[in-house]
Amino acid sequence: MPFITFEGIDGSGKSSLAKLLAKELEKRGYKVQQTQEPGGTALGLELRQLLLRTSGEPPCPEAELLIYEADRAQHVNTKIKPLLKNNFWVLSDRFYHSSLAFQGAGRDLKIQDVMWLNQFAAGGLSPDLVVLVDCPVDVSFARRAGRVADRFEKEKREFHEKVRNQYLKLAKDESDIFLILESEKKSLDSLLKELIDELNKRGLL
Ligand SMILES: Nc1ncnc2c1ncn2[C@@H]1O[C@H](COP(=O)(O)OP(=O)(O)OP(=O)(O)O)[C@@H](O)[C@H]1O
Ligand SMILES: [Mg+2]
Repeated sequence: MPFITFEGIDGSGKSSLAKLLAKELEKRGYKVQQTQEPGGTALGLELRQLLLRTSGEPPCPEAELLIYEADRAQHVNTKIKPLLKNNFWVLSDRFYHSSLAFQGAGRDLKIQDVMWLNQFAAGGLSPDLVVLVDCPVDVSFARRAGRVADRFEKEKREFHEKVRNQYLKLAKDESDIFLILESEKKSLDSLLKELIDELNKRGLL
């Protein structure tokens, strides 16, 4: 069954859209599982705490990447692959393109290193469609106002600009699997319609 990932800067609208798609697919009679990175498994939830907390010793960029990849390996092997085998649609809020954007561009790690580790952790699994929910950094800041910021959300504006630009570059480089949805001025319902149209066009629905 299809494996769909949702990517984008914090507050762009990934979770809202994934939830809407899950509901729509269930309405059509499909088995659907929503999941997330980091934290798609019990072990992953513990790693998520280490990654996102704002107290304690922060990981250096290399350690940060490796913790994400550990979360991913557990996620792929114990959850995503078994679900796909059992005919579930799997919708993941973030997957390995997040590491290319956040650790590669955001933390200035070598893209080649991130790519290699992504492949290792994902064990040959790649998304059928990557939904890049994109909006300007200012819009994402406004949408997150009032939330308690995690370690990434506390980063400066330039960090989020680098992450966003890297996502847009990845979408260009891998245009065969990316769908860019511009979330600044469109309602979630109209974005869902664009997404459903794309799934139909690709023969996934
Ligand atoms: N297209 C949209 N138009 C207006 N508001 C939106 C749109 N998409 C999402 N929002 C609102 O923006 C906020 C952030 O959305 P959401 O939590 O889905 O983003 P996210 O990308 O999952 O964020 P995070 O990375 O922090 O988990 C929510 O209050 C949501 O209702
Ligand atoms: Mg979210």
